[in-house]
Amino acid sequence: MVNIILFGPPGSGKGTQSANLIEKYGLIHLSTGDLLRGEIAAQTPLGLEAKRLMDQGLLVPDAVVIGMISSKLEANPEARGFIFDGFPRTTAQAEALDKLLDLKKTAISNVLSLEVHEDNLVQRLLARKRPDDNEKTIRERFVEYHNKTAPVADHYARFGKFKKINGEGTVDEIFARLSKEIDPLVEEKV
Ligand code: AP5
Repeated sequence: MVNIILFGPPGSGKGTQSANLIEKYGLIHLSTGDLLRGEIAAQTPLGLEAKRLMDQGLLVPDAVVIGMISSKLEANPEARGFIFDGFPRTTAQAEALDKLLDLKKTAISNVLSLEVHEDNLVQRLLARKRPDDNEKTIRERFVEYHNKTAPVADHYARFGKFKKINGEGTVDEIFARLSKEIDPLVEEKV
């Protein structure tokens, strides 16, 4: 299996690039943000509680997102691999993912971190107009990212599985940079 984590701050292009990567490599896209927005749209109790936190730019509890990812991994036993987008976002989530993948006798192939200047991130997010894309919430999302998510990089760097990718430029240029890293991983598995 090829399991990629697309890492990076809010607005760095994780969702945009995931859509292209799943098409090229036949992997399954697991976005905790999309899963939570699905719960909000369905007005489930989990969704209502998640919305309260997401509207403030705060992370939802680890147990909630770990449970969602666990169900998705179980539901896809024949997958060629996964692209994780927006997960793991805390060291506790990263440790839980290690255990879940271990049960499937697989591991993270690489963590690709999209690096974009903060001014450009803010511009991209304000142009999109999602409910959590207002200046106040964006600032809080960045604080959460720096305090809780950025340390996840160390978890993977310890195993030599963390690579910074220039996330500036056109979508196609960034896709080519990501493909350059993923192509050899896919070839190894053939
Ligand atoms: P989530 O949905 O994961 O949001 P995020 O990480 O803040 O990321 P975004 O979706 O804003 O950005 P992205 O990197 O995917 O960029 P995108 O491709 O969309 O999480 C939302 C909330 O859910 C969190 O705040 C938290 O509350 C909760 N949550 C989610 N996962 C969680 C977890 N694991 N634990 C706890 N809580 C969790 O691009 C952004 C914009 O830029 C788009 O408009 C796009 O068109 C544009 N764009 C993309 N690429 C380019 C480019 N190259 N040039 C110009 N514009 C571009």
